[in-house]
Amino acid sequence: MCLTPEEKAMLAGDLGPGVKRAMEIIVALGKIYGAQELVLVQSVQVAGVSYKNLGDAGLEFLHEWAGQGAQVRVPTTLNPAGMDLTHWRELGISEEFARKQMAVIEAFKAMGIVSSCSCTPYLTGNLPAFGQHIAWSESSAVSFANSVLGARTNREGGPSALAAAVTGRTAKYGLHLDENRRATYIIEVRCPVTSEADFGALGYLVGRRVKNGVPYFRGLKDEGQGMLKALGAAMAASGAVALYHVVGVTPEARAGDVVAAEAETVVIDSLDEGYAALNSPLDKVDLVSIGCPHASLAEIEEVARWLEGKQVKAKLWVTTARETKGRAQEEGLVELIETAGGRVVADTCLVVAPIEELGLRSMATNSAKAAFYAPTYSGLLVRFGRLEQCLEAAVTRRWPG
Ligand code: F3S
Repeated sequence: MCLTPEEKAMLAGDLGPGVKRAMEIIVALGKIYGAQELVLVQSVQVAGVSYKNLGDAGLEFLHEWAGQGAQVRVPTTLNPAGMDLTHWRELGISEEFARKQMAVIEAFKAMGIVSSCSCTPYLTGNLPAFGQHIAWSESSAVSFANSVLGARTNREGGPSALAAAVTGRTAKYGLHLDENRRATYIIEVRCPVTSEADFGALGYLVGRRVKNGVPYFRGLKDEGQGMLKALGAAMAASGAVALYHVVGVTPEARAGDVVAAEAETVVIDSLDEGYAALNSPLDKVDLVSIGCPHASLAEIEEVARWLEGKQVKAKLWVTTARETKGRAQEEGLVELIETAGGRVVADTCLVVAPIEELGLRSMATNSAKAAFYAPTYSGLLVRFGRLEQCLEAAVTRRWPG
């Protein structure tokens, strides 16, 4: 691999042991994937933030690295943590968990990382430009950045993203290269796909089928970025899709022919199988979760308007970025939701919070990604459907119909 003099100095330890360790990770990955060189990155998003996933070993690893003087060189944000960093008590999080979670956040802060914990950094100011190289690790954010924004990132692991932040570089392979951004599957959609749940069910089916391929969708209407957020998150969960194209919608598909000559065609003429796979047979709903990926201001507004004049019986969590919550507060939306008995929860989500400790058994969600992960990560039975069905369930504690 060809390294610049500065990169060689980092690798030799001239800039300290924290930078040396970071460069060793980047170079090792580059060698594994056959990279010829490194590329400068403009921003980093680090996953692996919840203490639920990191445990004591992960916390120790972060402390040690921070203690070696590692500092980030580019704007770097975090994925959701295991709790709302300010309102964790109201959510029922234990003192012990909160203490460890805050220690994780402090280790990241010591490295110069902004403690905005969100899987939608693109909604709160970290918006990469078309063609820009970045190193993000949250799979739904990677999908959004590559596909909807046209930026370039591989699906980084937590340590490799952190290493990219400390060196300002990543190895140039995978989706940083033009040749790997061509579609390997053509997905012919021949059924209506209109709600966020429909896009999620479609994403679930396609991800399961194409694994880490690059799908090119035909037959999808442009229903807005919220729908693409749901589609990409689901494909990244059931498969490992990090890039997709939608004819006439996403930037690389609009710019020209992006389909590889050998691309295989898959026809989707019904979403029923996706809905069936993501639903458990349950009627009573303990918790309704909206905001996976983290809710945008428009999504919070939709929830708030629907709830006006109603009261929820089940727990209702709308998870979002702290900054988005602040904007929702200014517009009176948080008050509307909380008056109805729901909560707007910042910094965390149902999958990375220690939900299993809160005594909940069942959940309704409009997110295919949450429906996919909640049974195994949080031990919950799940109902998956449209936003209105979920809110109806929050009010009645029963899944409608
Ligand atoms: Fe985000 Fe948590 Fe869903 S990290 S994409 S809200 S599982």
